[in-house]
Amino acid sequence: MNETLKTIHSRHSIREFREEPVSDEVITTLLDAANTAPSAHNQQSWRFIVIRHEKKQQLADLIYARSYDFPKPASVLLRMACRTITMTPVVVAVANTGDLIRHGTELFSIDSSMAADFFRVMEIQSSAAAVENLLLAAKSVGLDSVWLGIMVLIKDEVLKLLGEPEGEFMAIVPIGYALRQSKGPTKRPLGVTVKYLD
Ligand SMILES: Cc1cc2nc3c(=O)[nH]c(=O)nc-3n(C[C@H](O)[C@H](O)[C@H](O)COP(=O)(O)O)c2cc1C
Repeated sequence: MNETLKTIHSRHSIREFREEPVSDEVITTLLDAANTAPSAHNQQSWRFIVIRHEKKQQLADLIYARSYDFPKPASVLLRMACRTITMTPVVVAVANTGDLIRHGTELFSIDSSMAADFFRVMEIQSSAAAVENLLLAAKSVGLDSVWLGIMVLIKDEVLKLLGEPEGEFMAIVPIGYALRQSKGPTKRPLGVTVKYLD
């Protein structure tokens, strides 16, 4: 296996971290990798918000407080996310800007609601590619992470806290040094997920 495949195969979601800080230089390297992801029309309609210190605590407090408004398993997942965010030295939130939706809807001579729907999907897919780059880049430099999506449930408050009230919530990614490594859950084999059409 080459280094890229090794990184892909060794990445597993990690939810418990050591206190060890992550340097600003490394964070910039990871953000640069995320920012290099493919994006529809190369619009890079994403925003990466680096959350640390006081702001990270505010985010954790918000998630914890709101978790009590949801039944299980959402409440449990929110509290798990809160714990992970508290443990990790840095969190990167990813939000869509809506720029591609606005730009594309103006550019495409199709029904505007169809265009908005189309470009929203393009924005989500572009940001997902950026998030995956972020996770893989972290793994490649000895860091670990987890993609947290559960905060979609409280997205308006999270976006407000992040200063992105116009954005669309995509992911919250705590990044740090793993407390312990994980082998990750078993994946369904290719025989189940792939079909060949000749
Ligand atoms: C879109 C998306 C949302 C996710 N949301 C959460 C989440 O809210 N909480 C969590 O603990 N893990 C979350 N995960 C991580 C998955 O649980 C994890 O990727 C999956 O179990 C496979 O494990 P692996 O990443 O170790 O391969 C999310 C992953 C993706 C791709």
